[in-house]
Amino acid sequence: MTAAELLGLIVAALLLQLMVGIGVSVRRWRAAAAAAPSPSPAASSARADSAWAGWREFRVSQRGFEDTALSQCSFYLQPVDGQPLPAFKPGQFLTFSLDVAPQAAGEPAPPRAITRCYSLSDRPEPMHYRVTIKRVPAPAGHPEVPPGQSSSHFHDHVQAGDILRVKAPAGHFCIDPDPGVPVVLIGGGIGITPMMSMLRWCMAEQPQRVVHLYYGLRNSREHAFKQTLEAFAAAHPALRLNIAYSRPGEADLQGRDYQHAGHVDVELLRRTLPHGRHQFYVCGPPAMMEMLVPALAAWGVPLADIHYEAFGPASVKLPGAAPTLAPAATAAVEVRFQRSGRTLSWDGRDASLLDFAERHGIEVESGCRSGGCGSCETRLLEGAVQYEHAPDHDVAPGHCLLCVGRPASPLVLEA
Ligand code: FES
Repeated sequence: MTAAELLGLIVAALLLQLMVGIGVSVRRWRAAAAAAPSPSPAASSARADSAWAGWREFRVSQRGFEDTALSQCSFYLQPVDGQPLPAFKPGQFLTFSLDVAPQAAGEPAPPRAITRCYSLSDRPEPMHYRVTIKRVPAPAGHPEVPPGQSSSHFHDHVQAGDILRVKAPAGHFCIDPDPGVPVVLIGGGIGITPMMSMLRWCMAEQPQRVVHLYYGLRNSREHAFKQTLEAFAAAHPALRLNIAYSRPGEADLQGRDYQHAGHVDVELLRRTLPHGRHQFYVCGPPAMMEMLVPALAAWGVPLADIHYEAFGPASVKLPGAAPTLAPAATAAVEVRFQRSGRTLSWDGRDASLLDFAERHGIEVESGCRSGGCGSCETRLLEGAVQYEHAPDHDVAPGHCLLCVGRPASPLVLEA
């Protein structure tokens, strides 16, 4: 062997050793990567611990009906930016900005932006939110955007793949995390949605905590989440399911489809709840709220243990609740809308300054219409506004909420 051949052999051996070394390193790196734990949902969730400001874009990843009447539809929302979502408090809601075409007869009208709020209906997940929306029939002849228009928009126009503008979860109607106190969740109709969020959170985070779920509705056709709830009750001994049908269908069977005939009222609670302290969470249509919430207080439930969220203008009156912040004006008062350049006379006919503004064609933002979301917050330039009860939303200094406010004196509003 010549010296050149010997040198070639040595170089080839060194190259082979180098390649083997690189191969082993790559395999080790791959194995280490495969073995490394991927971020858990909890960890991802923990990273996204602060809400975003303003609007954020979400893509509808899927939609599906929750009842056989096809009137309650769930929408799953994923953030377009792909970043983990902040964990919300079970019971909170999302605020949407929608471009809705008014359902006016005759010529199609251009879309207009409206703001609406819907409760989250699932427990916190790091990469998606879920809301469940009931189609509300639009009343005929409403001069402004009727209450059912945004729900019809969701049902008729929002499909998988669509992009929606959404504000961060908000609201103070949230479950108390103290696991020592049994909870009573009472949902009427679509008021079941925040209860589903609270229930799913309890089952995941506090599986030993006793939860009594009362769900009032007419019959099995509008029984949302029926199989899901039955599966939960079968799998979780701490869940006590109480379904009440007020108008059972011919095929509906007590003991199979529902437990109680009639409405969810205090009599039913008296009969079925064990003695001891409970925390009550109530959400449902106005008639149910106006009947049930004061009845709980009259039954002796401490006000601190009664939590409720009403649809639309809050009309629940609790004995001994937070006092009125300022006396309402009894005589007619002037209300000036500065930006709109209008001065109008408030005569007490409207339930709120929001209704008053809309009746006179003054453009103001609104969402929940019950003092919870802050969409109608407006700068108060002069005067004082009266609220029947302290609003849920924290009102910024120098501002007021139109949806639950009435004038306590002549007003100048920035709108
Ligand atoms: S519309 Fe939500 S606070 Fe007024």
